[in-house]
Amino acid sequence: MKRSLGVCYYPEHWPEDRWPEDARRMADLGLTWVRIGEFAWSRLEPSPGDYRWDWLDRAIDVLIGAGLSVVLGTPSATPPRWMLHRHPDMLATDADGRPRKFGSRRHYCFSHAGYRDDAAHMAGLMAERYGDRVAAWQTDNEYGCHDTVLSWSDAARDAFRDWLRRRYQDIGALNAAWGNIFWSMDYADWSEIDLPNLTVTEPNPAHALAFRRFASDQVVRWNAVQVDAIRTHSDAPIGHNYMGRVTEFDHYATGAQMEIATWDSYPLGFLLDRVPEGDAAAYLRQGDPDFQAFHHDLYRAVGRGRWWVMEQQPGPVNWAPYNPAPLPGMVRLWSWEAFAHGAEAVCWFRWRQAPFAQESQHAGLLRPDATDAPGLAEAAQVAAELADAPDVVPNQAPVALIFDYASQWAWEVQPQGKGFDHFALCFHLYRALRSLGLSVDILPSDTTTLDGYALTLVPGLLTLTGPLRAAIAGASGLVLTGPRTDLKTDTLSFKFPFGPDLPGLSTRSVMEETFPPGAPLPLVKGGHVTLWLEHHETEADVIEAATDGTPILLRQGRHLHLTGWPDAEAARRILRDLAVEAGLDVHDLPDGLRLRDTGAERFVFNYADEARRFDGHDLPPAGVLRLTRPS
Ligand code: GAL
Repeated sequence: MKRSLGVCYYPEHWPEDRWPEDARRMADLGLTWVRIGEFAWSRLEPSPGDYRWDWLDRAIDVLIGAGLSVVLGTPSATPPRWMLHRHPDMLATDADGRPRKFGSRRHYCFSHAGYRDDAAHMAGLMAERYGDRVAAWQTDNEYGCHDTVLSWSDAARDAFRDWLRRRYQDIGALNAAWGNIFWSMDYADWSEIDLPNLTVTEPNPAHALAFRRFASDQVVRWNAVQVDAIRTHSDAPIGHNYMGRVTEFDHYATGAQMEIATWDSYPLGFLLDRVPEGDAAAYLRQGDPDFQAFHHDLYRAVGRGRWWVMEQQPGPVNWAPYNPAPLPGMVRLWSWEAFAHGAEAVCWFRWRQAPFAQESQHAGLLRPDATDAPGLAEAAQVAAELADAPDVVPNQAPVALIFDYASQWAWEVQPQGKGFDHFALCFHLYRALRSLGLSVDILPSDTTTLDGYALTLVPGLLTLTGPLRAAIAGASGLVLTGPRTDLKTDTLSFKFPFGPDLPGLSTRSVMEETFPPGAPLPLVKGGHVTLWLEHHETEADVIEAATDGTPILLRQGRHLHLTGWPDAEAARRILRDLAVEAGLDVHDLPDGLRLRDTGAERFVFNYADEARRFDGHDLPPAGVLRLTRPS
């Protein structure tokens, strides 16, 4: 398959006589895709029922006429002002009970059935009109961005009660499952159950986790109705543009409804805004060397192999605490890293910088006056390179890492130690794997086979489900579980006998403790355990211990369990040993250097702001190398 490039474009922001020139320049640049429409509702239906398709008809004509393929977004992330007259109660409510106002975007509650129907109706009208012309669809825009999954509205409360009734059927069963006898929290009727906010002290964690599962299901349902509305009229593939480190809904579940997954990659914004253990001093203009890669691998799983970068940063953004410009070469490097992880397409956000409103400080490929911005030349370079390059051949990585949304919610609800976070733990181990030059597949927790993986990591998983349990039991490679895997039930109660209940490993955690920063537990072989430690009664071999004798790494045959959160040094050492034992091609990469192996090639990326050497090759800062893969 030919990898391709594209851009996000807002014809409604520019005079119509400008469109042909923009379209021509996009095509000349070598772009294939242009995404439009996702915020245009107020111009498509300025008042209820007054549809103005004419301008969008003409915009699509111009773009297709220039040889571009159109990705059309449904506009439900920006309901126009009049929608609030129709549904005054459609706004999401924050955890303090305050409605979030009109005046930016994503001002809706996923549980509001009236707005959900109106949004699906609009998606259906667009699909009916453009279904045979559009090459791909995008539902909504960035579910969960700006903290918009959790809404504490009346609509959410009512839908939550219905959800609980369907899940538990009997109020006594709910009381028993949640342990509501504790603090006399028993309910006699569904109508007594409120949302778990504004309680005096913490709510029952089972209640809070149920709300998190419900909130995720509301997003999944929201997406489903739009997908259904589009599919009635169009066969074009459908995707949604996910975000970096947005974990409030189960992306695998929305992914299963659509043909492709896409995501929005803002490496410099992310580094200063949300990367765990990000090194802003070293990577200010390059972005974290692992954060994008993690999401490429995650969304490859969400899209079941088919995924794009729908928005790629081309210059400074506007929304992080500080917004540096990319080091020359990074706009190119980020694109090639995405292709090396299997992206079908990379699209830049946005074509031309807006002179007005919230994002006037956000770079595009063009400046606000339509002259070339620095990102444009690098986009042109990628287009030229792509035209000549052999295709990227996808393959299975040698290492698997299980990432699970419900486990993220569970540890947010009951961290036990401040900062215990499933994403952060998975990313911490992923970073260690990448520093060893290893390529990784991220898999969901309902994975049924680990065939072909020399090493699998299952960190921080709330409960091991049947299929994954069987896959671990049958794995031919090494499997490392923990820390904090399979200790609790799906309502955050303890299991009896104590967990973890791991295939192939006879071990039980009888006590867990957590530590603040600055109180690490040293390990005999070097490095430390920080934050989390399980105390096991075990029949397994103890192959690593803390200096005080506490078992840290347990092993029986191919199955291993880590009892604590290893610091970077310990993680790298432990994973290095396992990867070497598994026969993998391990490298001790210098800071900033990263590898990605595909079916035929080895890509080498230099995220450092100084030259690096790999295998006899020099890489300048932001350098990219394509090597034939060692057999
Ligand atoms: C994304 C969003 C775009 C734009 C961009 C700015 O999160 O989808 O609409 O706001 O960020 O970086």
